[in-house]
Amino acid sequence: MRVLHALSALLVASVVQAKYIVPGGRWRDTEGDLVNAHAGNIYFDKGSSKFWLFGEHKTEGQEEGGGISVYSSDDLATWEPHGLALEPIEGHPYISPEHIIQRPKVVYSEGTGQYHMWWHADNSTYGWLLQGLATSDNVAGPYKFVDAVAPLGNWSQDFGLFTDYKDGRSYALYSNGDSVDGRDVYLTRFNENITALDEVVYRFPKFDLEAPTIIQTERSYWALMSHKTGYRPNNVVAFRADDLSGPWSQPFIVSPLNTRTFNSQSGFSLRIEGTKKTTYLYIGDQWDSNSLWESRYIWLPMHIDERKKTLEVQWHDVYDLNVNTGEWRPIQGKTYTANDATTSGEAYKQEANFATDGVILTGIYGNDSTVTFEGIEGTGKPQWVSFYYQNIDDMGFGDQPGGTPDRIGGEWQLRRISSVVVNGDVQNVETLYQRDTHKGIILSTPLQLTLEKGRHNTITVGGLFNGWDYKGADLDRIVVYPPEH
Ligand SMILES: *[C@@H]1O[C@H](CO)[C@@H](O)[C@H](O)[C@H]1NC(C)=O
Ligand SMILES: *[C@@H]1O[C@H](CO)[C@@H](O)[C@H](O)[C@H]1NC(C)=O
Ligand SMILES: *[C@@H]1O[C@H](CO)[C@@H](O)[C@H](O)[C@H]1NC(C)=O
Ligand SMILES: *[C@@H]1O[C@H](CO)[C@@H](O)[C@H](O)[C@H]1NC(C)=O
Repeated sequence: MRVLHALSALLVASVVQAKYIVPGGRWRDTEGDLVNAHAGNIYFDKGSSKFWLFGEHKTEGQEEGGGISVYSSDDLATWEPHGLALEPIEGHPYISPEHIIQRPKVVYSEGTGQYHMWWHADNSTYGWLLQGLATSDNVAGPYKFVDAVAPLGNWSQDFGLFTDYKDGRSYALYSNGDSVDGRDVYLTRFNENITALDEVVYRFPKFDLEAPTIIQTERSYWALMSHKTGYRPNNVVAFRADDLSGPWSQPFIVSPLNTRTFNSQSGFSLRIEGTKKTTYLYIGDQWDSNSLWESRYIWLPMHIDERKKTLEVQWHDVYDLNVNTGEWRPIQGKTYTANDATTSGEAYKQEANFATDGVILTGIYGNDSTVTFEGIEGTGKPQWVSFYYQNIDDMGFGDQPGGTPDRIGGEWQLRRISSVVVNGDVQNVETLYQRDTHKGIILSTPLQLTLEKGRHNTITVGGLFNGWDYKGADLDRIVVYPPEH
């Protein structure tokens, strides 16, 4: 009884504090730390009635081999940390901090009555190309290393796992590396117990894709994968099929061209079968190769049209997902455009036919060349604010010779960093990371800010050092969202 009471109290609390999903924001767990679980999966555990998020644990100075972290959630927005599900072991032949422990996926095996964690197991130079297995009696772990094997005698790099909701069978997805013979993506069925692979079901030949995941609708299977551009995002593609063994369609791009899937890489997808609606989420990673441990998450609803045979990942700054009904809705915010802003120093408004007001705020630099949005309405509570920007430092990845940022000895500047100051309070400078974009492509990054109650707030944006320079990205507009409730 007592336990039940505590549980329902918890449930009420989690409903009252409903949180939004905010792609690309700094996601904090219930302890206030950044959610640190990259390129993993989300497993809904019936026993605990919770979602469990697994992923690579990355910290400054330990970008690989940090083990696999685990978090739990009732709503996919509030995450409670449970430490490491798989801990690296010093001197271990496969899971020492010297090894690659990437793209973990956890699934429950009815046959063994255990949770099975699979991942891409490798040495630091990616010379092994194996799949690791660890098991646990508890979903949160600790997981105990079992083995690392070559799948059906072949190579395995980026690892994905898919479970067919109709028959419960699980499949491994893996790109087989960058060698001349490799460059395929395999779809291979596990045995019933998910302890080893059984049979190759399909091979996506020589597309040179990676980071594979499959999402299943009532009618179709949709396989999403990214191109191989390392930690730099590209245009994720999908294939469709009626049957896992094919025939599969031609690949097609799933997001507006040149947004590079809103600066993210595929890796997982989640089917939420609610009481009113089934929602399909794209679970992507926004890698930050300047500081991998700060990489963010791009989770977005996918719009699937079975008749047209299309799948689109759609951008929303902020949305509210009800995991019980399966319904979600974009949150409406209040927009302030370039015309509403004043400039200082060398910052100015430049004609830009792709911008909301036909002008974009540019020349933002350091503390002296800034732009200020005035008359902003606030509530006195933390609110998400999206900054729509353009940052063409890298000249449009893929559009220039050799894929390099500057033909003459240039270096990638993956992001600019803007300073954001509310109501002139320079003691509290927020850092806004603005990833590179193509020319004329406007993307957004959110920050959670506390504005005063009323319509008199100002937001001032300047430039901070990004490792090269003090430039802030060009700004198109900002959108202020209501607080979470
Ligand atoms: C699955 O695992 C269980 C427990 O180890 C074992 O008893 C059973 O024989 C296995 N099933 C198959 C098909 O291998
Ligand atoms: C990784 O494994 C490959 C293949 O066995 C080997 O050639 C390479 O030297 C290994 N790398 C390291 C750092 O041990
Ligand atoms: C391993 O993968 C390569 C590339 O897909 C393929 O050509 C080869 O037949 C595979 N080998 C085995 C043993 O399956
Ligand atoms: C901007 O001001 C901050 C502190 O107020 C200082 O640390 C920083 O160096 C200044 N930036 C530039 C480019 O002058």
